[in-house]
Amino acid sequence: MVKQGPRHAGQALFHEVFGTAPHVGASAPGRVNLLGEHTDYNGGPVLPIALDRRTVVHVRPAHGFRFASTLEPGVVERRLAEEPRGHWTDYLVGVLRELAAVGVELPGADLTVASNVPAGAGLSSSAALTVSAATALASLAGKRLAPETLVEVAWRAETLYAGVRCGRMDQTISVFGRAGKALEFDSATGSRRMVPFTGTLRMIDSGLRHALVAGEYEHRRIECEEALRRCRKLMPDLNALADIPVAALPKIARHLPGTLARRVRHVVTETARVHEAVSVLGRGRKTRFGELLYAGHESLRRDFESSCDEADTIVALARKAGATGARLTGGGWGGVVIILAPERSADTVVARVQNDFAEEYGRIPQAWEGKASGGVKVER
Ligand code: GLA
Repeated sequence: MVKQGPRHAGQALFHEVFGTAPHVGASAPGRVNLLGEHTDYNGGPVLPIALDRRTVVHVRPAHGFRFASTLEPGVVERRLAEEPRGHWTDYLVGVLRELAAVGVELPGADLTVASNVPAGAGLSSSAALTVSAATALASLAGKRLAPETLVEVAWRAETLYAGVRCGRMDQTISVFGRAGKALEFDSATGSRRMVPFTGTLRMIDSGLRHALVAGEYEHRRIECEEALRRCRKLMPDLNALADIPVAALPKIARHLPGTLARRVRHVVTETARVHEAVSVLGRGRKTRFGELLYAGHESLRRDFESSCDEADTIVALARKAGATGARLTGGGWGGVVIILAPERSADTVVARVQNDFAEEYGRIPQAWEGKASGGVKVER
């Protein structure tokens, strides 16, 4: 984490490593998903905000590609033709390859990364990196990508090269985020709608980190694909799991193996929760919104089984301490729990959760604040 702010840290690093000022830079935010987890690859809606935590990429022209980051010493040289290495620079190689695919070709670039988006915490540090890098590199090539193309370049870099079969939520909010707004994004149609979301959100880090590439995330995707195949036997016209009506769940429970039926129930009820959340947020009904967050967490815990003990504990403690709502956000199996509480009591709620958690786990979990902020921008 960078104390002085990632923009200055990035500029300082650029000077230190490459001995000159960068030509241009761009920054893009991490995100918190308020609701709609594991729906973006099942044809459902999501409701993220862009965070006031950003990744800043600075660049200058070069022959060949050299990358440096505030998070690790040294300079990494990469060639675009080479295989992924399971290193963070894979995201950059992926971006450069996808930029070339849309006609933005560069002979080389010196590039630095600075960020205050915690990595692996479910706050989408990877989309903050791919979106800011794609923007800075396109700008270096004298091009400006349409926002939809930028989302696609960033998503393809992550999916095709870095090897995570993610949905498009993270890249979309990192591009389209706005201050004071959440974004309702429909993964089936690509439609976007801004929903008011003001005030400060609290986050408590479970301290557990999960690498999405290898593990459970891909496993859940495969389960959802299998569930869709089986549901189509009951409903031949079905496009995606999110299209199943809530009323059809009992029938699905009768015909599908228990685990798959629970995965479907999560996607279907989560889709309904997002729709309701959008409507209650529009009317300022914060109490109901908070209940939907608790229900969303319960669904992740019980039906999708993408939570972890630490996150379940934080959610339970938050409820006990008087939070309006709480749930694990992001890919799952660790990362950050978001907490909603009235502003006057939020500090007390967070402190109580931290204390009670420390009694159980012997360590004080980190806490952050965040608010809905703007999306990607070029930094001069
Ligand atoms: C990760 C993925 C997203 C989404 C979430 C779960 O963040 O990158 O596309 O699937 O997990 O909601």
